[in-house]
Amino acid sequence: MTNHVPAPLGHLRLGVNIDHVATVRNARGGEWPDPVRAALLAQQSGADGITAHLREDRRHISDHDIERLMDTLSLPLNFEMAATDEMQKIALRHRPHAVCLVPEKREERTTEGGLEVAREENRLAHFIAPLRDAGCRVSIFIAADPRQIEAAHRIGAEVIELHTGAYCDAHAEGRFDERDAELGRLRDMAAFAHSLGLEVHAGHGLTYDTVAPVAALPQVMELNIGHFLVGEAIFTGLGAAIAEMRRLMDAARA
Ligand code: PXP
Repeated sequence: MTNHVPAPLGHLRLGVNIDHVATVRNARGGEWPDPVRAALLAQQSGADGITAHLREDRRHISDHDIERLMDTLSLPLNFEMAATDEMQKIALRHRPHAVCLVPEKREERTTEGGLEVAREENRLAHFIAPLRDAGCRVSIFIAADPRQIEAAHRIGAEVIELHTGAYCDAHAEGRFDERDAELGRLRDMAAFAHSLGLEVHAGHGLTYDTVAPVAALPQVMELNIGHFLVGEAIFTGLGAAIAEMRRLMDAARA
């Protein structure tokens, strides 16, 4: 009998979302704290990429932040945006490493759900074609729902990012049966998306308490985490918060 040694899981990338450094800056106007400085610190502290969401209302990240990130970062930028003509023009001007399409509603506090790809398949297929031609990897932020995954695959996306918000909310509110059911959905849908040839990412609402089970999903190649890290940075500093998240991800992956 031979001993079966499971293959090591692929390196799990950590994308640090710096939006909420800009939220704090914008609370007072001016230039402090600078999200680009946070991105450079994240780069030194174990991040594999930087994520920034240029919202239609510019409530946190600004156009100038994106320009400066493109000029200064050596890490890949994952540019989150709504599927609008304005944002497509901006993305085509900068050609970031990745473009992640997210739904956006002005009245929401954060990105509440995944993109409805299935309902807008035709429009989105045309929308992403020039982004792909420009060399951007196109990622679609969606719920763990087979209809959305199949639609993302059909329109030619290379990556999907699974929305972990429902799993994290259920954990935070002590609804542990629901949390476990959400985790089961994430597990099944990560495997399903991978079987179609899609690269799988995940994110939204992840914390030290919730990251490990998601990091352990073998098909997940990247986690994008922001709000918790920026909050934790108040107590421990951003570098230490990122290093601890990295440690928890690596331990779950081992
Ligand atoms: N991934 C996507 C697509 C997002 O829209 C967000 C929030 O902007 C995140 C990840 C990060 O979520 P959080 O800030 O809650 O960690």
